[in-house]
Amino acid sequence: MTNTKSKLPLVRDTIFSEMSHLAQQSKAINLGQGFPDYQPDQELLNAVCQAIQSGPNQYAPMTGVPALRQVIHDKVIAHQACHYDVDTDITVTSGATEALTSTILALVHPGDEVVLIDPAYDLYEPVVTLAGGQSIRVGMIPPTEKKHSFSIDWDAISDAINSKTRLLILNFPHNPTGVILQEKDLDALEQIASRHDFLILSDEAYEHIVFEGERHVSPASRPMLATRCVLVSSFAKTLHATAWKIGYCCAPTDISKEIRKVHQYAVYSVNTPIQMGIAAYLKQTQAIRSLSAFYQKKRDRLVSGLHSTKLKPLHAEGTFFLLVDARELGGFSEKELAVFLTRQAGVATIPVSAFYADSQSPNANHHLLRLCFAKQDTTLDAAVERLSGL
Ligand SMILES: Cc1ncc(COP(=O)(O)O)c(C=O)c1O
Repeated sequence: MTNTKSKLPLVRDTIFSEMSHLAQQSKAINLGQGFPDYQPDQELLNAVCQAIQSGPNQYAPMTGVPALRQVIHDKVIAHQACHYDVDTDITVTSGATEALTSTILALVHPGDEVVLIDPAYDLYEPVVTLAGGQSIRVGMIPPTEKKHSFSIDWDAISDAINSKTRLLILNFPHNPTGVILQEKDLDALEQIASRHDFLILSDEAYEHIVFEGERHVSPASRPMLATRCVLVSSFAKTLHATAWKIGYCCAPTDISKEIRKVHQYAVYSVNTPIQMGIAAYLKQTQAIRSLSAFYQKKRDRLVSGLHSTKLKPLHAEGTFFLLVDARELGGFSEKELAVFLTRQAGVATIPVSAFYADSQSPNANHHLLRLCFAKQDTTLDAAVERLSGL
């Protein structure tokens, strides 16, 4: 028998694969996993095809195609007024996934503490474990009758940070709650940073999807925080192209140098023609500017449809996810509710409890489900019709 002593004994298939599988079996509409059911812009597809036709179709530089790093540099300056050196501070990665993984593996040492905010995207904790670190999970304040959204508990975050803290992982706009950062949040973060010496990993995969005319503010937009911050983002959600797995990280030179040491052995480099195609497309389009309006319409369509159902929407400030309160359907746990809805109504969702350290715990079960509205209007309408029949 081979000795397969697991480094991650508690890790199972993700809830996203589990619910997508159940959705397929039950022929349900899949509002669970976060991906669009429409194509990227035709101009982008043309630019990528053109890059494949004309080449090069060989290895890209380890740090990314220079034209794409330049586009990222210009985009970060335009949106966050934050300057990174194109050659030393910006690295193109295989999705945000690889940027996050390489960063955690490069920066966290055995015994280090890493503070995560619950509910948390499922990647962070297993990678912290692989790095030998210890995850310290701090809860967001759940919604109440008066406030129909989660809020960030800066006092609790401050209490969790101490001399052993190596990294604070932030993810705003936040998956799954849709909460965005405000300038006052950055004030609170600066206060904490002035007292403790820790690094910040800021996962900004949904940076361009923010509603009601608000704008995404990155911790890297504050000079005091930028010196200790790794800004991670992705073109997956921004360009409706989750399959392409192109992301990036921006960090001061000394931090980038360490991240690149892991990146070069994890993937070496990321596929050349898609990088070239994205760079060519983004140089000549303003499409990113209309993304928030595009998704706000979809959010509003879903919210207004859900009024005819027993699922009560919370408020989403950003991302393409909407949380719904399912208490009117009875006292199930969130997981039971999600399975019930997939089988009985034919609509797959994700239980928010899956984003907590212990998804069985009563503290993780607020009767909330996550719905993805990156879907064609016809898909959203069909899902609402099924849910109204419950
Ligand atoms: C918060 C968050 N971070 C990172 C990722 C991964 O992004 P990518 O597909 O670019 O690897 C996702 C994807 O769903 C996400 O929701």
